[in-house]
Amino acid sequence: MRRTAVLAATAAMALMGLVAAATPVIAQAPPGAGHGAKAVARTALAPPDVSVTNIRGHLSQFQSIASQNGGTRRSTGAGYTASVSYVEQKLQAAGYTTRRVACTPGCSSGAGPNLIADWPGGDENQVIMAGAHLDSVSAGPGINDNGSGSAMILETALTLAAQRPTMTKHVRFGWWSDEEQGLLGSRAYVSGLSSTERSKIKQYLNFDMVGSTNGGYFINNISTAAAADLRAYYTSINVQTEENVEGANRSDDASFRNAGIATSGVAAGASATKTTAQAQKWGGTAGRAYDSCYHSSCDTTSNISDTHLDRSGDALAYAIWTQAVGGTTQRDFSINASPGSGTVQAGGTATTTIGTTTTSGTAQRVNLSVASGLPSGATATFNPTSVNSGSSSTLSIATSATTPDGTYTVTVAGAGETASHNATYTLSVGGTSTNRSFTNDTDYPLNDYVTVNSAITSTASGSAASPVQVTVKGTHTCSEDLRIRLLGPSGTSYTLKNAGGTSCTNLGTRNYSVPVTQQASGTWTLQVTDMYSQDTGLLDSWSITV
Ligand code: TRP
Ligand code: ZN
Repeated sequence: MRRTAVLAATAAMALMGLVAAATPVIAQAPPGAGHGAKAVARTALAPPDVSVTNIRGHLSQFQSIASQNGGTRRSTGAGYTASVSYVEQKLQAAGYTTRRVACTPGCSSGAGPNLIADWPGGDENQVIMAGAHLDSVSAGPGINDNGSGSAMILETALTLAAQRPTMTKHVRFGWWSDEEQGLLGSRAYVSGLSSTERSKIKQYLNFDMVGSTNGGYFINNISTAAAADLRAYYTSINVQTEENVEGANRSDDASFRNAGIATSGVAAGASATKTTAQAQKWGGTAGRAYDSCYHSSCDTTSNISDTHLDRSGDALAYAIWTQAVGGTTQRDFSINASPGSGTVQAGGTATTTIGTTTTSGTAQRVNLSVASGLPSGATATFNPTSVNSGSSSTLSIATSATTPDGTYTVTVAGAGETASHNATYTLSVGGTSTNRSFTNDTDYPLNDYVTVNSAITSTASGSAASPVQVTVKGTHTCSEDLRIRLLGPSGTSYTLKNAGGTSCTNLGTRNYSVPVTQQASGTWTLQVTDMYSQDTGLLDSWSITV
């Protein structure tokens, strides 16, 4: 599912995520107070879809990590630290500032660190946080508890990074250690913050067990302001939600709430039993646990409801985009060379069109230059030297006679106002000849009654340019003795002159224009026959231009 980004124009519409048909439409303002900031007129950017396929990919990685480490990702084991490394490396590659925060004091002895990731930008004094515990119990790989929340917030973080929208508030993500031992990692993190840092955190959203196979749609502290956006999302897709009674004070949001921070979150449920009423509104099986593999070895990648998982990610994205993403995208452009390559002989000039496109926001001025790769003796000229993104410029690369043959990757730099991007152009100097004139300089005696064949191999491509031009040079005291023919590569014979005449003239230099329908490449043969007795001579050379 992919939502279309739509820019809404008014403050009222800033409360709406406008989406394409068949995807959820949030057509009402989220209930609850605490949305004063959104009274400021700005345009809202629709939240993107968070790919459940990609979340699934992260879950598979957690599964393999557990399998390689005794079937568990408990906080004190190598399966936990390998999980931290996996998440950390994805975040770093996407542009996050990550920190491993030691889970001391207060955690189990040997517990691995919490992982904190900050998305650069937004108001640092207004931090919106989302978190999930990354550790499992010893009994199993912990794919629903809590690979699900960990993978989901990771993919949401990567989606935010991919979009690079303008941020109003600062967004931070946390992966907690040692939750299964009593919410210890998150408590250590919160206690380790100065009161100033703590007061900057305006909201913490927790995601613990968001893919339960017989799950429900539970929201923590459902009637508070912190829950408003999550609620609004589920309402928009016509899914009813309930207070997360089962999970109250049993996950990391409690650590934040105890420190006076507004919290909410999403869960699909653990070992408690689904009621008949819940099965009626949500589907699934009444009288069975939401997650029958809770804290056991069967909490594997088979123990996941994609629907619950998918919706939790889209709910978080909705909350983040509603609260922390500004109305305008980062302005950006792209640049390309078309054609992307060209061939010239040394001394020749290659031209290509440097095109630019506005990829987000409004157009911007782009200054063009060659950053690297020009061969020696060559000069590059842009016409014009700067364009508004969306327009193009002609790049001419003039080589000189001294430019060495070779293949050069010429990097064209486009320096814009908000970003710089490069295009490359591959310039080949030399290579396939563009020459279409050839000569055979070998001398052939022209004796009585003898035919000589003087061949030329043409490397010119395409069709011969008709008429081909033939020049024959030689000596013969009676050129009237000579019949001269040209044989084309296809074998066709063209008579340039017949023998015969009433008086003798010297051969000398003769030019012929010969209409042909021939390919240019291959063997062209000049065939000279001395058809009469007495006078003889010499074929000096002949040339052909095809
Ligand atoms: N998953 C946490 C644990 O390991 C806390 C928890 C228990 C929970 N029941 C829940 C979280 C229900 C969400 C919903 O015990
Ligand atoms: Zn859990």
